[in-house]
Amino acid sequence: MNLTPKEIVAYLDNYVIAQNDAKKTIALALRTRYRRMQLDKELQDEIMPKNILMIGSTGVGKTEISRRLAKMMKVPFIKVEASKYTEVGFVGRDVESMIRDLVVNSISIVKTEQEENNKEKIENYVLNKIVEKLLPPLPESTSESKKDDYQRLLEAMETRVISGEMDNKIIELEIDKINIEFNDTNLPPEMAKVQESFSQIFSSINKEDKKKEVTVKDAKSMLKLEASNKLLDMTNINAEALRRAENGGIIFLDEIDKIALSEKSQGRNDPSKEGVQRDLLPIVEGSSVTTKYGVINTDHILFIAAGAFHVSKPSDLIPELQGRFPLRVELESLTEETLYKILTQTQNSLLKQYEALLGVEGMNLIFEDEAVKAIAKLAHKANETTEDIGARRLHTVLEKVLEEISFDADEHSGEDYKITAEYVHEKLDMVVEDDDLSRYIL
Ligand SMILES: Nc1ncnc2c1ncn2[C@@H]1O[C@H](COP(=O)(O)OP(=O)(O)OP(=O)(O)O)[C@@H](O)[C@H]1O
Ligand SMILES: [Mg+2]
Repeated sequence: MNLTPKEIVAYLDNYVIAQNDAKKTIALALRTRYRRMQLDKELQDEIMPKNILMIGSTGVGKTEISRRLAKMMKVPFIKVEASKYTEVGFVGRDVESMIRDLVVNSISIVKTEQEENNKEKIENYVLNKIVEKLLPPLPESTSESKKDDYQRLLEAMETRVISGEMDNKIIELEIDKINIEFNDTNLPPEMAKVQESFSQIFSSINKEDKKKEVTVKDAKSMLKLEASNKLLDMTNINAEALRRAENGGIIFLDEIDKIALSEKSQGRNDPSKEGVQRDLLPIVEGSSVTTKYGVINTDHILFIAAGAFHVSKPSDLIPELQGRFPLRVELESLTEETLYKILTQTQNSLLKQYEALLGVEGMNLIFEDEAVKAIAKLAHKANETTEDIGARRLHTVLEKVLEEISFDADEHSGEDYKITAEYVHEKLDMVVEDDDLSRYIL
């Protein structure tokens, strides 16, 4: 998508408060990729993405920024934890599996698009199949007048199926073998192939058993899957998905600090951490990874690594890996004011969520401005005196404030319920003042 960096930052501002450096850096990285795609193929190949390292303590918006971006840009995106990988040869997931996951994500994006484009075709397929079951076709020799009657019946039946009136009726469905699909991306491609042929063999043996009684409602969703597998060109989708993952994919590598070897903890450290870093090198640098959908080159995939780096520092990563994340951004700790803005200015903020939830009970929850300020202040204080868990503190604090009201909501149905600053203090002061207590409760 061709949004300018300014537009990207403006979009992010709706969801993430402050952290302007991080927003700018990422927006620019995305724009650079757009610019690159406009160039000649020859020059395109020369321009490598500059990977980003985000440094900031927990709960300050690192993941949120990336998640929102990927959602808006509709680019293939996955978030993985660096700490869950193990060195090649050890039991566990190897780092290449993240590329396979990215491809799978890309396929689902492209497939959804294609389903959207072929919506009518797919719906017709589903409808025809179901109506066929409910209203068996006429024999060839039927007279013309009967055919007209039948046609009317057919149309009436179609309307009833569409409206959902027939949803509880039971019909017998032959389940297509494509429905039995294995999508375990954890398997290396060779294994996946073996598994696929197995599933094909089994499904041809079990032909007779595949008739199944289902409700029309379930049949709708089952046939939808069958329809998109039949009507959509999966080879095309896979090829397009590979291309998009290759040129537009983003991998968010969380907890990168957990695989760094800090000076203090050296010796006690898991030796495979360095191994994982070494395994990451070729992927971040650019190499070819084989997936069951084809070979993908990782040259132009954008990597955004993130970590708190409390115990270790970026310089504790092996030098080769440090060099592959040239853009560094630091995210600020959240101030009282930022916390206040997170509560009041973000789209679908926590306050709005609680208002909506209690609205279901018929309660009109109103937060007075002074109360919101008090919440921000106390959350900030709790972050200072105990652990700094960033905006996540707001969740625990608000939960505590609203605990009682939330429990008794049914008694207040139809009421306006004002949350005042006094109320907030009444609920929280005791807890925040007492260090031990707040460690447990907030
Ligand atoms: N600056 C911010 N503006 C708005 N909301 C924020 C901000 N920072 C954090 N949040 C909210 O706090 C929660 C946690 O944020 P996020 O997942 O981005 O943390 P993180 O920085 O990735 O932390 P961790 O290091 O623990 O992964 C999210 O629900 C997010 O919406
Ligand atoms: Mg995170």
